[in-house]
Amino acid sequence: MPKIEITKTELVWPGKYNEDGTLKEVPKVSLPFQVIETVNESRATREVKKGGMQGTLFDVYAGKEGDTFEAGWRNKLIWGDNLLVMGSLLEKFAGKIDLIYIDPPFATGADFSFTAPIGEAGDEVLKEQSVIEEKAYRDTWGRGLLSWLEMMHNRLMVLRELLTEQGALYVHVDYRVAFHLRLIMDESFDDECFQNDIVWHYSGWNRHGQKYFNRRHDLILYYSKGPSPAFNSYAVPWKSKEEYVRIRKQKILVDSLGREYVLSDAGGGERVKRFLDEALADGRPADDVWDLDKINNSSKEALGYDTQKPEALLERILTASSKPGDLVADFFCGSGTTLAVAEKLGRRWIGCDLGRWAIHVTRKRLLGIENCKPFEVLNLGKYERQYWQGVTFGEKKEKRPAEQALYEYLAFILKLYGAQPLAGMAHLHGKKSKAMVHIGAVDAPMTIDEVNQAIDECVRLKQTELHVLGWEWEMGLAGPNNDVRKGSQMHEIAKKKGVKLLLLQIPREVMEQQASAKGDVRFFELAYFEVKIKQTKKFTVQVELKDFATPNTDLIPEEVRSKVKKWSDYVDFWAVDWDFQNDTFMQGWVAYRTRKERKLPLVSDPHSYEKPGKFRILVKVIDIFGNDTSQAFDVEVK
Ligand SMILES: C[S@@+](CC[C@H](N)C(=O)[O-])C[C@H]1O[C@@H](n2cnc3c(N)ncnc32)[C@H](O)[C@@H]1O
Repeated sequence: MPKIEITKTELVWPGKYNEDGTLKEVPKVSLPFQVIETVNESRATREVKKGGMQGTLFDVYAGKEGDTFEAGWRNKLIWGDNLLVMGSLLEKFAGKIDLIYIDPPFATGADFSFTAPIGEAGDEVLKEQSVIEEKAYRDTWGRGLLSWLEMMHNRLMVLRELLTEQGALYVHVDYRVAFHLRLIMDESFDDECFQNDIVWHYSGWNRHGQKYFNRRHDLILYYSKGPSPAFNSYAVPWKSKEEYVRIRKQKILVDSLGREYVLSDAGGGERVKRFLDEALADGRPADDVWDLDKINNSSKEALGYDTQKPEALLERILTASSKPGDLVADFFCGSGTTLAVAEKLGRRWIGCDLGRWAIHVTRKRLLGIENCKPFEVLNLGKYERQYWQGVTFGEKKEKRPAEQALYEYLAFILKLYGAQPLAGMAHLHGKKSKAMVHIGAVDAPMTIDEVNQAIDECVRLKQTELHVLGWEWEMGLAGPNNDVRKGSQMHEIAKKKGVKLLLLQIPREVMEQQASAKGDVRFFELAYFEVKIKQTKKFTVQVELKDFATPNTDLIPEEVRSKVKKWSDYVDFWAVDWDFQNDTFMQGWVAYRTRKERKLPLVSDPHSYEKPGKFRILVKVIDIFGNDTSQAFDVEVK
């Protein structure tokens, strides 16, 4: 093996270098973003900003907006793997982000779970809310520390490029990786860029009788991009005047007007009078040990998201290292703490997470902030899937012919679904007990034609059950039947031909190595809902959510089913776009449950149009598993 040339102290791990001694390159890709949802912005404002550009099913993010709220900036919540997301942001945001805070997960061998309450609080007999436990994210890495180091090394390289010259990066870790991380950060940043290792100390229930002292702190490594970061000194209040004089070793004196003061050292032996009330109001510049409470279940802020950090912690970081209007990012945003604090402090923000739950929880959290500015939800959609397919099965991996790559993709999805591959069929790819299985492509929505062809092949082969697995669905295919409990029109067509049809969503987790390796992937059946749209007065309509169902409830875990009392218990959130233009979903009205407010209105507020006409109303429902279903309804308003 060739020699690796080491020029400075660095941390090396198996796999860091290629066999020829060169450093492994960070996979850098730039993919287009799709805007999948716009929140808190009116359609009219949006159309003006788009400059009349017509969208297709989604708007592709053009990145033409300005750098201030006044110049049209919209905050961004991005659903996807942060390495691809950051790589794709580079083109527009290299050198543009003022502050990045990240709180990456680390291997604990455990799966963190998210507890989602079901139904309304204190329902009937139960004093406590029923909850479902969902895996919020997988905190385990295949090769333990090695995978973690590799993951962080790759990301740090890109993070650095996104920062402004005066920008700051805060990385939140604990004792298990803090010291390794310090070394890999030193490799990416110049010597003078290390600023602090902040100790966040929190209280807890200490116990006797262990081999070591109770572990009660996390570490936050603060690095600046360059030698002169933008930094605002941060003051913490004194607890009392007694604390002030004790720590400063001073005596309280009283002047002739009865005002208390101390004699402060002004340097050179000179002593100056300092009024105590003023000294207390100024507070004390914070040092690098912070005593702040952790979030627990009874905290006001708690959202039920394990590892949620307190807003007070982020408030310090954002106040010290950014100013209003600056751009702040968190690429492991979890429940959205950084984004919520950024919103409250008037910073612009970008958040990213790969978890469905994290995005859902964050979206609700932001909506709950008074006067939350418009933001958009984006993803890399089919581009991320194509990329994943390419590196996992395709030519990029080894020189493989396209058919071989496709075969491996199908075999992989079939395995995750618990099905066996089938050879020699035109539209049927596998078999799961009695059912035939058809799998959709990563880069195109499943079409009505495609499903029809699979149904017809089942008929020819005298097969009576068909499971169709898709990433996205052609509009109308997943549109409901007259009876939503029986599924879509497609179900009806299949039934007439003697085939029982199941339409299942391929979840994003399929692309996460840890999730698929652990078999942590759940395929949910598409859900359907029914609404009633009423014209209440001139030009004015109201939407009522009438029913929500998945055709085969046996696919829902028993522990959830047994806690659900009525159909609406499955619904966590629903929203209406009053004038859908076949592009991005624009949230016009929204209702959702929170941990405190469990009641969910099933009738929207009235919406008045400016003039009569035909409108397409899009309704989006998110269930308690975080899956969303959207349906369009055409109305004529008089
Ligand atoms: C420790 S939690 C962050 C908690 C957050 N600070 C808060 O206050 O809620 C880490 C988050 O990183 C996300 N995550 C892990 N790997 C990721 C990746 N490759 N890309 C994007 N997000 C990732 C997880 O889904 C999880 O929500």
